[in-house]
Amino acid sequence: MADDAHSDLADRLRAQPTLTGVAPPLDVQALPSDPVALFVEWLDLAISDGVAEPHAAVLATVDADGVPDARTLILKDVDARGWAFASTRSSRKGAQLSAHPVAALSFWWPSQVRAVRVRGRVVEASAEESAADFARRSAAARDGVTEGDWTLWRLQPARIEFWQGAADRNHTRIVFERGPDGTLVRARSEEKTA
Ligand SMILES: Cc1cc2nc3c(=O)[nH]c(=O)nc-3n(C[C@H](O)[C@H](O)[C@H](O)COP(=O)(O)O)c2cc1C
Repeated sequence: MADDAHSDLADRLRAQPTLTGVAPPLDVQALPSDPVALFVEWLDLAISDGVAEPHAAVLATVDADGVPDARTLILKDVDARGWAFASTRSSRKGAQLSAHPVAALSFWWPSQVRAVRVRGRVVEASAEESAADFARRSAAARDGVTEGDWTLWRLQPARIEFWQGAADRNHTRIVFERGPDGTLVRARSEEKTA
């Protein structure tokens, strides 16, 4: 019985279509050499194409025992300093970031068949920046949160992967990694993925 129920679900899941969006044109020979610029290009196109909540991402962290955790949050900004996000220091993620200041962010824009993942160290922004972000929140969003608890962090990428799916499964993966001189450079192998 349980097996039947499971296989029914497995069948329903198998029947679900994936990669149903329409990928924008992509010339991998003509990309900006700076992955921050490429991310902003992709994000701006997601915004102008009307991708739903393109600034939502899954943030993964690890706890003091090394056990991973993940939740969705909102991207606040991106620049050479990193990918900025905000939450309360007293939250589970706040405790995890203080024990292990590393994280990964994962974006998925289904209607464009595009995904971006970023991983690296996390640094806390200045108290002034956190306070400024708190001040920009609506009164409703500030409700129940003390100003000193609200914290802006930046994920400084060690690796960034841009992924674009294709109907023929000839997916494209563009990878940047931090080189020995500290700059982010295109990885030599950008293998095709299943
Ligand atoms: C679309 C979406 C956006 C969210 N944005 C944020 C956010 O910007 N900051 C935040 O702290 N939580 C945000 N949340 C709630 C988090 O997913 C999570 O439930 C909460 O931060 C507690 O996570 P933690 O217990 O791992 O610290 C958002 C949830 C969703 C679904």
